[in-house]
Amino acid sequence: MVAARQVPFIDLAAQYRSLQPRMDEAVREVLEGGWYILGERGERLEGAIAGSCGALHGIGVNSGTDALQLALLACGVACGDVVITVPNTAVPTVCAIAATGAEVAFVDIEPETFTLDPRCLADYLERAERPERVKAVVPVHLYGQAAAMEPILQLAGTHGLRVVEDVAQAQGAAYRGQPVGSFGDTGCLSFYPTKTLGAYGDGGMVVTSDGQIAETLRRLRNYGEAEKNRNVMLGFNSRLDELQAAILSVKLDHLESWNNRRRELALLYDRLLADSSVETPREADGNRHVYHLYVVRSSRRDDLRRHLSHAGIQTAVHYPTPIHHQEAYKSLGYPRDAFPESVRATREVLSLPLYPELSEDAVHYVCETLRNFR
Ligand SMILES: Cc1ncc(COP(=O)(O)O)c(C=O)c1O
Repeated sequence: MVAARQVPFIDLAAQYRSLQPRMDEAVREVLEGGWYILGERGERLEGAIAGSCGALHGIGVNSGTDALQLALLACGVACGDVVITVPNTAVPTVCAIAATGAEVAFVDIEPETFTLDPRCLADYLERAERPERVKAVVPVHLYGQAAAMEPILQLAGTHGLRVVEDVAQAQGAAYRGQPVGSFGDTGCLSFYPTKTLGAYGDGGMVVTSDGQIAETLRRLRNYGEAEKNRNVMLGFNSRLDELQAAILSVKLDHLESWNNRRRELALLYDRLLADSSVETPREADGNRHVYHLYVVRSSRRDDLRRHLSHAGIQTAVHYPTPIHHQEAYKSLGYPRDAFPESVRATREVLSLPLYPELSEDAVHYVCETLRNFR
């Protein structure tokens, strides 16, 4: 039986409709202009996004995954090194690390924020058998909230680690008033369509204030070229095209107001779900959470999900499997019960619908349905 009311998890076409005349014009201009890759639209967008992230340089690439991989390479990570991240992230964080030839090491998360627990990082670094191999840490600003950057940067400084921030889910978020992406050696953004700033296809960007890293990234993304027909390093084909740059430029003007709307809707959820059966997300002191995802916890997550689905409410789980349980990463050799907070999160987290175009009425309906769950 189809429920009388439907609340989709996300509605990307609604956002397109709200921008349609300007968007169609921007796309048409690129098509008529006849220049499609590495052009002035991409350069302008790189400058604008770097500026909004508090960084000096932006380097557009094919995806968030490529942004992470190329950023790690530009920071000097190579085969045989070790790179640390968390096991509750989206799998591409780990794909990108593995693609550099480095070994992935996991540390557990803080249960309140779902982000890297600096105490676990400190513990790992103290016990590392071959500390000279540990080259970088990738804190993931998961769901739209910054990881605890101050203690992470302190540890990275003490142990000589590069810091490559995974900003894929958190463009526009801040930690103690400073935008994410500006803390580490690099910040890595994804423009996957569902992200806070989403393209109409794949796209990504690395932001950095280090001129040397920026130059290496510009070469890496374009076959290792320093200039036309002068190849100075091994390279890739990973460029943000002019169509996506034009699309993203139209959307960038709205990012701040969209993120503010996400925050308002999240507050409404918080209020309507107070004292319900679920634990609502916590914004850590000093953080500006942008709620790429609104993630609650429930000890009966799967039953709750079914209950909401019967009422026409689409939800999602980010993510149901900790990465050390994934077949592709079993060879890392972690026991199943390692990283208990990450494992518990994968059993309990549930993402409710949240996007700027979602109506308040829909949020009321989701919360009322959730409160009727027995
Ligand atoms: C945390 C995180 N890191 C990295 C990525 C990779 O981004 P992309 O899909 O653009 O390659 C994503 C998005 O899927 C993500 O959510």
